[in-house]
Amino acid sequence: MNLGRDTQSSIYRAGASGRLPIVPTDWHALETSAKRRMSPAAWAYIAGSSGSEQTSANNRNALDAWQIVPRVLRDVAERDLGIDLFGHHYPTPLIAAPVGVIELAHREADIGVGRATAALGIPYIFSGQASRPMEEVAQIMGDAPRWFQLYWSTSDELVASFVDRAEASGAQALVVTLDTHMLGWRPRDLDIAYLPFIRGMGIAQYTSDPVFRQLVAERSAHPRPAGPKPRITPETIRTLFAMTRNYPGGTLRSPEPRAAVETFLDIFSRSSLTWDNLAFLRERTTLPIVLKGILHPDDASLALDHGVDGIVVSNHAGRQIDGAIGSAAALPGIVERVAGRVPVLFDSGVRSGSDVFRALALGASGVLVGRPYTYGLAIAGAAGAEAVLRNIVAEFDLILGLSGHRNVAELTPDALTK
Ligand code: GLV
Repeated sequence: MNLGRDTQSSIYRAGASGRLPIVPTDWHALETSAKRRMSPAAWAYIAGSSGSEQTSANNRNALDAWQIVPRVLRDVAERDLGIDLFGHHYPTPLIAAPVGVIELAHREADIGVGRATAALGIPYIFSGQASRPMEEVAQIMGDAPRWFQLYWSTSDELVASFVDRAEASGAQALVVTLDTHMLGWRPRDLDIAYLPFIRGMGIAQYTSDPVFRQLVAERSAHPRPAGPKPRITPETIRTLFAMTRNYPGGTLRSPEPRAAVETFLDIFSRSSLTWDNLAFLRERTTLPIVLKGILHPDDASLALDHGVDGIVVSNHAGRQIDGAIGSAAALPGIVERVAGRVPVLFDSGVRSGSDVFRALALGASGVLVGRPYTYGLAIAGAAGAEAVLRNIVAEFDLILGLSGHRNVAELTPDALTK
């Protein structure tokens, strides 16, 4: 594979006809360009992190603390970027992280990301807070790889239904996100009082689910005593229209769209979840169970004790706890503790091929990327998301070869210094 040189070369050759890349390769230009395409509220939700956004900075600092030490005069003409996870071979070390409410970036939303990832063979982790139902995305992806991200609802019946649907949609793994059983404190959203779910956005996995729809029907039939009536403003009307548009079969007069939002907010996650609950999932599915949001080596040990199949070291890209440990600072300790017994994947703060290299060299078996492809999607839909992912893989390929390595298995901490 020569993806690095091929991608580079096609960009330079297009330049000879006066064409520029469809998405910037420079991170800050990518951010600026995506921000211009999105509404201020959408940008706040997608780009924002929690509190003072210290954790996002920690993610960057923890990655940037590591420097690559290249080796020379090794034959690296043939390179293989592939990885193996859970019995599947994937052609690149990238995994598309679950990103909720991605319609905020572009109307193609999860469908666009499905097309982009399928084109590259990158497994796409369908978000539990997706804008389009998993079945629709799976359908356009054909045989291309996908996983499913689960937020553990207060309703076990709903959890079971999601798991069944994920299996039927061809998911190759189940990723249980553990760090977001409550939403982090996010000033960018709080200060404009904006939460997309209240407008019925990002709840497509729910509104397409038979168990959820039954809960909505029950709630609509027996409405709870309403609180104080909200003041009716033009924004109230817009919210009502949005809720209705986002509820399949809903009308302005029907109670279901509003009941769906209320039901979602009530049941989307369970703060009382403990390690013991994992047995429920284990009994329901033969899919690999991957825990996302592990930052402490002792939790990695507990995960192993409970028979999970993989771990994602992640702080939810800085969106949950302000002042949390940078994900790359947590990675080596967890890799050491897990000692190769299950794959340890890396998430949070990844922007470039250099970041991918460093995470793999620190012992990750695969690397999740989220905001970067979301920005590409915002700029140019599926083609933009694909271009961003391709660019990251291309840069990784070049760094792999330029540092004297031929494949992911050759990467060890020896390639890095602090
Ligand atoms: C939800 O997963 C979020 O980070 O907004």
